[in-house]
Amino acid sequence: MKMGIFDSLHVQKTVDELCKNLNVDPNLMRSICDVLVDLGLLMEQNGFYKNTEVSDIYLRADTPLHQQYVLNDLRSYFKLWEKLDEILKSGPIMVSEERFFEDHIKSLASRALCGELQRTVRIVAQLPEFKKARRLLDLGGGHGLYAIAFTKLNPKLEAYVFDFPEVLRHTKYYIKKFNAERVKVIPGNFFKDDIGKGYDIVFFAYNPGGKNPNLIPKTYSSLKDGGVFINKHVFYRKGEGSKDPLLDVEWSLVAWKGVKKRRHIYSFEGDLTFEEYVKLLEKYFSVIKIVDASYFASYPLSQLGDTLDSKIIIAKNVYNKRL
Ligand SMILES: C[S@@+](CC[C@H](N)C(=O)[O-])C[C@H]1O[C@@H](n2cnc3c(N)ncnc32)[C@H](O)[C@@H]1O
Repeated sequence: MKMGIFDSLHVQKTVDELCKNLNVDPNLMRSICDVLVDLGLLMEQNGFYKNTEVSDIYLRADTPLHQQYVLNDLRSYFKLWEKLDEILKSGPIMVSEERFFEDHIKSLASRALCGELQRTVRIVAQLPEFKKARRLLDLGGGHGLYAIAFTKLNPKLEAYVFDFPEVLRHTKYYIKKFNAERVKVIPGNFFKDDIGKGYDIVFFAYNPGGKNPNLIPKTYSSLKDGGVFINKHVFYRKGEGSKDPLLDVEWSLVAWKGVKKRRHIYSFEGDLTFEEYVKLLEKYFSVIKIVDASYFASYPLSQLGDTLDSKIIIAKNVYNKRL
């Protein structure tokens, strides 16, 4: 992708033509092209090479589904793994949470576009409450693609993406890219700051607060009567151990300043188990539906960001439940 091989082979070429195009050594490139054929990323006929369907969609720059950021992200994780011996001795690499997500948000966006976003949005859009909704909060929305998609499906909806100011720089890029006029941003930290009021829907996906009890009453108060809280996260059941030991190691290579991670992937100090979370949720809301990952997950990369056995919990703020 860095060399532009797939951009060039959108149209079939001989190795010599390709190398003239890229200004590289044909001998080595001939072998590389054969490897790419073996991998199913190129096809060859009578000495002409051309992208296969998959590389044409995902590996050319500037296509809607290009995966350049995902590959960059995989490489940056391999570099972290190379420091495993140092990390074992001196502890995880320390970064601020804002910086971490700033670095990874474009990769998360590209991955979401490969199916999970479309499937998740379809599940939400089927709710009768979605069709009537006018204000939606995408809490910890990052890239904002969910908020953007929701406003495209409901022409009367205004959506707000709440995230750290550093991350919202990238959200604004996607808002502009997709010409999403009814998506606004709210900078802040959802553990400390006001998240606003009067929402019809709060959508909350893959966040450090996703299993935290304090955000349930906060979300409840931000919703209108009859509003809907949609929580998509990877939960642990009571007594459950590791979901994937390799990902637990990857999870622990980096620490975020001021955030206490637990040992297992996507788990934090103060998290509730799935059973505890649903029980607390029921004190404020009525749980309408719980959707398993098989209905929305996309292809796993054995990397941080994988859907694993995530669930979408859809809960309705029923009038008078707290009275
Ligand atoms: C894994 S990303 C998920 C993005 C998006 N919701 C999705 O499902 O693809 C987590 C997002 O939560 C944001 N975030 C994490 N902690 C936060 C906090 N305390 N306050 C506001 N945003 C936070 C991060 O900056 C990041 O954009």
